[in-house]
Amino acid sequence: MAEAGPAGESPAEEAAAVIGATVPTGFEATAAAEVQEKLGSASRVSKDRGKIYFAVPARCLPQVHRLRSVDNLFVVVQEFKDYQFKESKEDALKDLEDLVKKLPWTDPLKVWELNNSLKKKKTKRKKHNQQSSASKEKLNDDGEEERTDQKDASEQEDCAQATEPASGQGTEETEETGAESQNGGDDTEQPEAKDELHGGSGGETKAGDGKKGEGDAKVLKFRVTCNRAGDKHSFTSNEAARDFGGAVQEHFQWKADMTNFDVEVLLNIHNNEVVVGIALTEESLHRRNITHFGPTTLRSTLAYGMLRLCDPQPTDIIVDPMCGTGAIPIEGAMEWPSCYHIAGDNNPQAVKRAANNICSLLKKNENKESSTSVGIPLDIIQWDICNLPLRTGSVDVIVTDMPFGKRIGSKKKNWDLYPACLMEMGRICTPGTGRAALLTQDKKCFAKALSRMGHIWRKSQTVWVNVGGLHAAVYLLKRTWERAEIRRSFW
Ligand SMILES: C[S@@+](CC[C@H](N)C(=O)[O-])C[C@H]1O[C@@H](n2cnc3c(N)ncnc32)[C@H](O)[C@@H]1O
Repeated sequence: MAEAGPAGESPAEEAAAVIGATVPTGFEATAAAEVQEKLGSASRVSKDRGKIYFAVPARCLPQVHRLRSVDNLFVVVQEFKDYQFKESKEDALKDLEDLVKKLPWTDPLKVWELNNSLKKKKTKRKKHNQQSSASKEKLNDDGEEERTDQKDASEQEDCAQATEPASGQGTEETEETGAESQNGGDDTEQPEAKDELHGGSGGETKAGDGKKGEGDAKVLKFRVTCNRAGDKHSFTSNEAARDFGGAVQEHFQWKADMTNFDVEVLLNIHNNEVVVGIALTEESLHRRNITHFGPTTLRSTLAYGMLRLCDPQPTDIIVDPMCGTGAIPIEGAMEWPSCYHIAGDNNPQAVKRAANNICSLLKKNENKESSTSVGIPLDIIQWDICNLPLRTGSVDVIVTDMPFGKRIGSKKKNWDLYPACLMEMGRICTPGTGRAALLTQDKKCFAKALSRMGHIWRKSQTVWVNVGGLHAAVYLLKRTWERAEIRRSFW
């Protein structure tokens, strides 16, 4: 790395970096607001949905990795807002090849190196923590695999992810099909899946400044990932990745490797917008809280977006009445620890998974001086949403991911469940100030149920989201002043 400057910062740390981040589609504005709040930078939302761009000094990388609304991060090498592709395939691909040597790689590669050095620090610390906790008892007693060494972007004392490979377990409702893309948070909307020309890791990870022959440093391994969307291109993303990758290899004398790569070069093509970047994350940052997955585990980044829509205030009581594996309340408790979170589900297996996820998180953090070392403000209960053991008007915020009627429940059952949910949620929520963010793909049923509950809930916003390829909606509702019908004598 370069030498430290007068203020103790290396030139790389002082350099300005343009960061690209993939975010859950529909939550671009939420992510931009988070970046503004935590990093003081304005973001530009890409025309290509699900991405934002912002500039920060490279020394802010640790904070960038701690953002809660971003899935993958990359440093932008160059962006072309109106790239003119030649008509014939050969000419268009030749232009892409020629572009490689004209791109300003030096500063982005410094940012990538800095990011790597942060990763190494974190890996060292993680190993140390694992050693010191190795003798401690395992909390999980249900025979499920527990991923205690999962990559954790939520750690507060460092920024980048650990380098060990993660086990890609779990069938998440929010997960895209196929390999996860570094630059496609919800790439299910893209007409063509990503193609890759790849590389692998090992040895020195010094990129140099883009010139050939890096002295005694080991040859880097790389891959190019191309994401292409638009119907006017004469080439496929595979062809673009292949030819662009060939030129990268030639230019840097790096070695292409499909799976074990040090550098992942991203080529994002969306109609006439072209962005070349270098990945700063190895896997999506939404994999931060959950070790015990269920059939419809929600991304933590989407959970964050839903919670943030409700603008939680200190001391608010926040409830997820259909919590599944607990992605929403766990994210809530981590990010809004001064609120009190209550969650439940009628499925005992889901409740157990949620409880195990909390245990894993507590265990992972027990050696750290983080707020979770003293526990997290969250209780998980088995209950039926139609008959919640909570006092009337006692809850400030409700955030939940309702059964879509596909993997969980059925569309038929939703016709009874949804109105009953809205009714009971209306009862427990504080009139006048209470709010709810509800995710569903069964929009027709939801609209009908809401029209029947218009006296207690007023829709104030709809955010269209892509959940594992499904076109879903998050409805932000405000509780009216109207008294809700008290249907039972529980309290
Ligand atoms: C879409 S899933 C929630 C997934 C969750 N967000 C997660 O990250 O795992 C919907 C959940 O609603 C629960 N559910 C369905 N009917 C319910 C009811 N009557 N009372 C409570 N929970 C119910 C299901 O068991 C399921 O876990």
